[in-house]
Amino acid sequence: MEGIYKIRFQRHFEELHWLYTELYNNDSMFAELCDHLEQFYRERNDGLKARDKAREEEPHWYRQNDLLGMMFYIDNFAGNMKGVKEKLSYIEKCNVNYIHLMPFLETPKGRSDGGYAVSDFRKVQESLGTMEDLEDLTAACHRKGINVCMDFVMNHTSEDHEWAKKARQGDGEYQSRYFFFRDFNEPVLYERTVPQVFPTTAPGNFTWLEDAKHFVMTSFYPYQWDLNYKNPRVFNEMMYNFLYLANQGIDIIRIDAVPYIWKELNTQCRNLPQVHTIVRMMRMISEIVCPGVLLLGEVVMEPEKVAPYFGTLEKPECHMLYNVTTMATTWHTVATRDVSLLKKQLDIVNTLPREYVFLNYLRCHDDIGWGLDYGTLRAQGMEERAHKQYLNDYFQGYAGNSNSRGELYNADPVSGDARFCGTTASMCGIEKAGFEGDGAAMERAVRMDLTLHAYMFMQSGIPVLYGGDEMGQVNDYTYKEDPDKRADSRYIHRGAMNWELAKRITDLDTVEGKLFQGLDRLEKIRRQEKVFVSYADAYTIETWDSSVLCIGREFEGEKLIGLFNFSETDRTAWIHETDGLYVDLLSGREMEASGVDIPAYGCFYLKRKQEGSR
Ligand code: GLC
Repeated sequence: MEGIYKIRFQRHFEELHWLYTELYNNDSMFAELCDHLEQFYRERNDGLKARDKAREEEPHWYRQNDLLGMMFYIDNFAGNMKGVKEKLSYIEKCNVNYIHLMPFLETPKGRSDGGYAVSDFRKVQESLGTMEDLEDLTAACHRKGINVCMDFVMNHTSEDHEWAKKARQGDGEYQSRYFFFRDFNEPVLYERTVPQVFPTTAPGNFTWLEDAKHFVMTSFYPYQWDLNYKNPRVFNEMMYNFLYLANQGIDIIRIDAVPYIWKELNTQCRNLPQVHTIVRMMRMISEIVCPGVLLLGEVVMEPEKVAPYFGTLEKPECHMLYNVTTMATTWHTVATRDVSLLKKQLDIVNTLPREYVFLNYLRCHDDIGWGLDYGTLRAQGMEERAHKQYLNDYFQGYAGNSNSRGELYNADPVSGDARFCGTTASMCGIEKAGFEGDGAAMERAVRMDLTLHAYMFMQSGIPVLYGGDEMGQVNDYTYKEDPDKRADSRYIHRGAMNWELAKRITDLDTVEGKLFQGLDRLEKIRRQEKVFVSYADAYTIETWDSSVLCIGREFEGEKLIGLFNFSETDRTAWIHETDGLYVDLLSGREMEASGVDIPAYGCFYLKRKQEGSR
């Protein structure tokens, strides 16, 4: 054993063994796991080992103010892996140094769920390239200081995965890697307590396999078979897949649908304690073999459920989590022009330990679910169902003087619930203003889009853009012509990058130019100013105007105040900071942070000129 490996292994051995035994009580499988960890370490190339070491010595490397992410589907962005490599200079122009390559592993056509139904964890989809291309791409990214993120879809496999095929043929060993049932007796018990993920596009949590004469558990689509982590073979093999992918040069592993990975009868089958045991083991495994790799948990749940996935400071689980409630609350604020709920949400996030790193975003490849704090809204006289209806009406452009465009997602006729899909630009009114040729409306929409980004950058953590949003790409309705995509409205905001429009990013007379250059300015400020480190002191300030949000950040004596107007009318932020003169970093204007007039959908980044304390 190499010295450094030995140290890392010994650091975690006892706890890892303990947790493994608690879950599996299987020493021979544990011994096999340990052997494989060492083997994956040996196979890891020297460049990656050096990266690991440097990051181990600088554990705060991802908590600074220099990371900016962008996510995209490889085919939509650049055709294939080689194409992405050719586009790295564009990515650099976007100030992006973290790219999330959306699922690219082997997946059956027409039964892929956007790549989230993996049939081979060690093979790249042929149309996108090969494993060698991936290694080549990650190496090229690393040379340019760009980190690479990929999805690790560990909750389920595609029904075309070799395990699933063997299980379908009746092999008991493979059936035990999934949840197989001869009749509906047990599934019906699960259905009593397990909610549905896709109530309209894939109702229920089980699928009948006519050829195998068995039911199989399928929480997502019927072709995505849930893995059974009660079987240590499943855990071990999936850890080997994780390490294999990490060894291709992946820096950030997004653990897809992580709350779902453990199932128990009479529970919701979400966020069970065993899930945390598994994630904790995964964290230790990565710290032993590839400590430069970050774990990003996909926990699309209410705040009380999300934070536990950070683990504790002594026993950490994920390095990073999505700031999902803040994201949804942001759009609620857009539709209501009332910042009070958002202020409350930010206050909750700001009281969490500063070691926690959130991934901040305005939208991603998935729908926006209206997971808001309805307790607070009820106290303000808003009822959940009616409010969701308003939000969905608003964002479809039907209510509330809205300029948004987009579509519902998984509208459930029984509960009346629905989620929402659309690109940031379309939701800000850029699509509508462009279609109607309305210059004034376009100017407002662009301002709103930039203000939302400016506000998003003020949050602690790592901001991630969806590729195309940097130049205002609008909804893509062509998915309706594709029989494989037609039923899933999430494709409306996963359109192909329009490189013709991207030619305009330097032209300030165009929407693309205004957005791209506006974002460029914000991104550069964020990178220059130390107050943007994720562990800075962050708080909200009362503005006494219901539509104006104020966020303060302080670090090492420096102070920055962000003001954001969420309404289409000019407002005044009745703040009164008496600690000196401020300069607006966006306009260069010197001013007082007191009674600030703020135009419709406008924003300020006010930096305190003199030293002093809050
Ligand atoms: C995650 C993905 C989503 C996918 C689901 C099932 O939530 O973000 O796109 O449908 O997992 O894998």
